[in-house]
Amino acid sequence: MTDTLSSQLIHPAATEDATWWRHAVIYQIYPRSWADGDGDGVGDLPGVTQRLPYLQALGVDAVWLSPFYRSPQADAGYDVADYRDIDPLFGTLEDADALVAKAHELGLKVIVDLVPNHSSDEHPWFQAALAAGPGSRERNRYIFRDGRGPDGSEPPNDWHSVFGGQGWTRVTEADGTPGQWYLHLFDVKQPDFNWDNAEVREEFEAILRFWLDRGIDGFRVDVAHGLVKEAGLPNYDAELHILDGEVRPGAPMPPMWDQDGVHEVYRSWRKVLDSYGKPDRILCAEAWVRPQERAVRYVRPDEMHQAFNFDFLQAQWRAEDLREVIDSSLKAADSVGAPSTWVLSNHDVVRHASRLGLPVGQRRPNGISAQDPQPDRELGLRRARAATLLMLGLPGSAYIYQGEELGLPDSTDLEAQYRQDPTFLRSNGEEVGRDGCRVPIPWKKDAPSFGFGPSGQTWLPQPPIYGEYAVDQQDGVDGSTLELYRQVLRLRRERALGSGGLQLLEGLPDDVVALLNTGRGERTLLLTNLGEEPVRLPPGAEVLVASGPLTGEDEVPTDTTVWAAV
Ligand code: GLC
Repeated sequence: MTDTLSSQLIHPAATEDATWWRHAVIYQIYPRSWADGDGDGVGDLPGVTQRLPYLQALGVDAVWLSPFYRSPQADAGYDVADYRDIDPLFGTLEDADALVAKAHELGLKVIVDLVPNHSSDEHPWFQAALAAGPGSRERNRYIFRDGRGPDGSEPPNDWHSVFGGQGWTRVTEADGTPGQWYLHLFDVKQPDFNWDNAEVREEFEAILRFWLDRGIDGFRVDVAHGLVKEAGLPNYDAELHILDGEVRPGAPMPPMWDQDGVHEVYRSWRKVLDSYGKPDRILCAEAWVRPQERAVRYVRPDEMHQAFNFDFLQAQWRAEDLREVIDSSLKAADSVGAPSTWVLSNHDVVRHASRLGLPVGQRRPNGISAQDPQPDRELGLRRARAATLLMLGLPGSAYIYQGEELGLPDSTDLEAQYRQDPTFLRSNGEEVGRDGCRVPIPWKKDAPSFGFGPSGQTWLPQPPIYGEYAVDQQDGVDGSTLELYRQVLRLRRERALGSGGLQLLEGLPDDVVALLNTGRGERTLLLTNLGEEPVRLPPGAEVLVASGPLTGEDEVPTDTTVWAAV
């Protein structure tokens, strides 16, 4: 038995307070690419509503929808022109209401994406700011500054855009002369709001209420660490990396990220959410912040409920790294009384079935093109299944990105002409960008667009191999990745693993991650073997599920995770 192994408690079981968001499994829908109801090649809300029963059967608790707001789509909807309306590409407000009603009927919660760091340049406020001129109330809702140099032709400071190039753009004033500059940490079509302005704060509280009144269950908050900038906008002589949270050793804290003043915003939002009573509505921070001690400040008791744990996503496929990140994530979250979250894939990163098929130890690529070394598909899938099984056995809340339940790899040979991510365009193709993980989902092998919609159109081309991964190829098929996810999600719920305590088991080979989850008082061994040699399960262990075939009765081969009752 595991009693022969020594153990170390790294997380106590949740006690009385097990509200839904502390252990929920949340499925991310990228609306453009999940289900196309009308056949125009772009996914939409009626398409989502129709297929919600698939998610109920999968066994998740909630869905998070990436932005569906009115938008010129310069950054796939993360450039919002109207926060209170749906883009015609995706449908109407009535479609959104119908989606929420259907989801609730099926017992699924709905979380929407909120984009408060910047709007679209086509937002009426930005248009008014351009028209009104320097020093106006309208300009003060964004970050406008005079340029440097005698004729103001140099940008106000040296900040870069996360997507490449300068972080400032100069405008032409109404009289046709070159004018002030505005800050955009992202695309030139995404001007940053001025969060020192009370009007901006009031507007966003009103937007929160608008959606809460429509019955949604929470918000995923985009670039949550970026809203407040350091006073005086000091120079920051370094490239911007939002999507890894990395501050180079010895470099000063970036003046655009993780400023202390941002927490006041979330305290006021928490009050708005709490005023809606039970069941809790939630806020989840997209905050690429390090170290974890700073990241968990976003989930102190009077701030947000959850924050994405990107350290887990970025961990190398090495037992030591995984043990370390699991331990430190839980301890950091516990220090503020928040649940940890776990995530392996999303719409900004290479899917884990591809990422884990690349050599261990290399830096995570921002997209893969045909010119890059290609991931090993078989190895990637094997490791992805093992990684997922480990993730879903951990206490806390877990995020699943659409298509990962099919074991879907990235599209890794998308031609330049199809690429739409502003990262690719702004870096002149130097950064491949995120289109590869955003390709429409295959539902049926032998249908046009692999069943994504009623026509053959898709806004990004689907690689031919996607047919093999289609839902209809996996549904009811023993050993398929889809059936594995279904089985695992059911077991996770039955054994209450999301609210269990966690112990780290010691005494096994170093390249094995062995944990004991004590959900509902039962003991579930989670064992991932990252070593070359198979590992024997402890005597008496009863296998509940495995990410791949075992060798013999009780030997866990390399790159495999097992859950066992012990
Ligand atoms: C977040 C989103 C990403 C978007 C960026 C700007 O990182 O996840 O997709 O491009 O913010 O809004």
